[in-house]
Amino acid sequence: MTEIKIKGAEILVVGGSSGMGLALARRLLAEGADVTIAGRNIAKLDAARRSLGNHANLKTAALDLTQEEDIARFFRDQGSLDHIVSTAADIEGAYQFLPDLKISAAQRMVESKFYGPLLLAKYGAPHLPPLGSIVYTSGVAAYRPAARGSVVAAINAALEGLVRALAVELAPLRINAVSPGWVDTPIWNFVAGDAKQATLDAMAKRLPAGRVGRPEDIADAICFLIGNGFTTGTVLHVEGGHRLV
Ligand SMILES: NC(=O)c1ccc[n+]([C@@H]2O[C@H](COP(=O)([O-])OP(=O)(O)OC[C@H]3O[C@@H](n4cnc5c(N)ncnc54)[C@H](OP(=O)(O)O)[C@@H]3O)[C@@H](O)[C@H]2O)c1
Repeated sequence: MTEIKIKGAEILVVGGSSGMGLALARRLLAEGADVTIAGRNIAKLDAARRSLGNHANLKTAALDLTQEEDIARFFRDQGSLDHIVSTAADIEGAYQFLPDLKISAAQRMVESKFYGPLLLAKYGAPHLPPLGSIVYTSGVAAYRPAARGSVVAAINAALEGLVRALAVELAPLRINAVSPGWVDTPIWNFVAGDAKQATLDAMAKRLPAGRVGRPEDIADAICFLIGNGFTTGTVLHVEGGHRLV
């Protein structure tokens, strides 16, 4: 059996400058991978690089998933690559009651979390070896939507459909998604603003796990999806039991 090793693998993490992507980058570097973290904001990438101790096996790349030409250029210039992960989402303004929802915010969310992943597969898959993989990030909103979450719920569900279709089309590459529950990351500044801590505390009390997620919980699940050669077209739920309550 050929083993899929994280040590020495070249792994792109789009969204690696924050939250779950940053935790994943830290974990992958600790396991000996060569990691490129990508996102739009160069200052955020630089801060992430510093928080990762300016690791010798870390590169950063400015990349906007809403820009097809950026993605095409990135992969043209990129050397070898073994795995692609995206945790990226531009949720600003998209988590909203319908009367206040601006369609431009919904469109940014669709572009970052649906078309962006599709383009990563279009341009990235040809660079991956047969044992390579792509891991996307959906979310529990597809299963337990909250008021204000219609756009997020719909996009997560669409992304999961894409995962299943790509797993067939791009085989033997493995295409999977992790579906996080509520995880304490900077994204909550957009979703809940000043009410972030109170919102997360209230959710922790409701969950069977008795706490909200940590970015490291999701990083752990993504490492499983990268490394398990018999898992494809799967959505791995890491949500503390959220779908049960
Ligand atoms: N946190 C939760 O409770 C939760 C729950 C369910 C699902 N999720 C999903 O989990 C994923 C990770 O969330 P998180 O909480 O870690 O978010 P986060 O801390 O806000 O990080 C999002 C990352 O995506 C990047 N990004 C945003 N738009 C981009 C674009 N157009 N092109 C490239 N990069 C882009 C951001 O960098 P720049 O801004 O510099 O581009 C940042 O690095 C998201 O897909 C989110 O929807 C989160």
